[in-house]
Amino acid sequence: MALYVKAAEILQKAEKKQGALKTLVYDSKFANIKQLFALVCETQKFSSILQEIIASTKLLKLTGLKPHLAQVLVYDLIIGQGLKCGGSWKAMLMKHRSRLQAELARMKVKQKVSRNQDLLPASLQQSAADLLPRYVRVNTLKTTVEDAVDYLKREGFLYLGQASRLDDLNLKKKAFVQDLHLPEVLVFSPKMDFHDHFLYKAGHIILQDKASCLPAHILNPPPGSVVIDACAAPGNKTSHLAAIMNNKGQLFAFDLDAKRLATMSTLLLRAGVTCQQLANQDFLTVDPESPQYKDVEYILLDPSCSGSGMVCLRDNSSSADVEKDQARLASLASFQLRCLNHGLRFPRLKSLVYSTCSIHSQENEDVISACLQQNPSFRLVPLLPQWPERGLEPFTQCLRASTSKTRTHGFFVALLEKRSESEPVDQEPAVQISSEVTSHSPPKGEKRPAPSPEESEASDTEEKPEPAAEQMNDAQAKKRRKRKKKKKKKAAASAE
Ligand SMILES: C[S@@+](CC[C@H](N)C(=O)[O-])C[C@H]1O[C@@H](n2cnc3c(N)ncnc32)[C@H](O)[C@@H]1O
Repeated sequence: MALYVKAAEILQKAEKKQGALKTLVYDSKFANIKQLFALVCETQKFSSILQEIIASTKLLKLTGLKPHLAQVLVYDLIIGQGLKCGGSWKAMLMKHRSRLQAELARMKVKQKVSRNQDLLPASLQQSAADLLPRYVRVNTLKTTVEDAVDYLKREGFLYLGQASRLDDLNLKKKAFVQDLHLPEVLVFSPKMDFHDHFLYKAGHIILQDKASCLPAHILNPPPGSVVIDACAAPGNKTSHLAAIMNNKGQLFAFDLDAKRLATMSTLLLRAGVTCQQLANQDFLTVDPESPQYKDVEYILLDPSCSGSGMVCLRDNSSSADVEKDQARLASLASFQLRCLNHGLRFPRLKSLVYSTCSIHSQENEDVISACLQQNPSFRLVPLLPQWPERGLEPFTQCLRASTSKTRTHGFFVALLEKRSESEPVDQEPAVQISSEVTSHSPPKGEKRPAPSPEESEASDTEEKPEPAAEQMNDAQAKKRRKRKKKKKKKAAASAE
């Protein structure tokens, strides 16, 4: 019920121009941001059709529902995946279902089309997200790629072998291939939906965009290693790390958000992960020198970001939003740089992967540039030479991903490694990223993978920082400033 109330509220606000759809969704604090966003976007897309159906069936008069609530409910009832609520609304709507469906059918007959999608104006018919292949990561903790392929073949899927070029990922109907870059990833047609499939429900496959499989694949911690997933929930990358480690070693996973961490627990249980230790903790407060963490060798850092790479979360911001967006990006970059700098403080660190699902250089190359400048003992490692999209010059060691060049959501990955003592340090001029933001938490408007089934697709949803965490962080920042002042005074005194 809460989903529909929230969605209706957001649609109403968007109509009154009280904010961009994406911002309104982010600000809603709803637990499953991706699910909410999908419902709101789809309802808005079909809104003129829904309004016509609602008017001609006199639904508002017969039920007393408010217009926006009626739209979201009718969308899910006759166009979407079915009503996700029980109780009185469902009972009430079910009474009108056949009339609503008949009205939808009548519209299709009138326009001589067979699919709901075809009722939309051409500009709205296919979003980039609809055209992306469906990626499935085989969870090697529970099965093998061969067994998963065999299972699917027995079910009538058509296996075409391993892809050798990007064009091989354009698949139709039940055809599927093994990915050309990531062998544990299987690729299906954009229409395929595995949410109700046995392999998904049993944790044998994870629904995860190919680009979001890159960070763990690149970090590649060997079994037995000590690993941190710094901003971990809802945990698809954690479960990927555990699979690579074959559940051997220690995998510490942190997240600020208790709710997302709870979802993550369920997801990890289903995936058969056993080597994890979850903590509802700000990564920036994890002490690198503490006995518990001093042996950490590998870190995966996938911090909150703008989520601008998620095609389904892209919206057309008005020019008035641009300024706000710039401030938000600067604030996110500052948070991301702090996390990165903190990660590099672990004394036995060998490798750190930094990733975002953002397409903005401010959150990607600029953060890496500033970090390298501040940590000259680390260097970038050139990644997957065969990957078609590279980081922006001069950071071509890093990877980028996009719908057009890699057939995935937009993404960025960098791998940092400690230099050997003898290695020369090359000095690139760094982009200035302000460290003025005092909060350790990501700013409002960040993106984090939503703990929904759909999440698995690479989603990131955002929630605002916990007020308690913010207060704590401000207090810490004040303390730090005081300490700095004291130090300065001391230095001045000893200089005199
Ligand atoms: C992009 S999402 C992570 C997605 C996750 N890596 C996955 O693949 O499922 C970012 C996450 O960072 C968490 N987060 C934000 N600030 C944090 C902090 N200071 N310490 C730990 N977690 C934080 C958010 O709650 C959010 O769940």
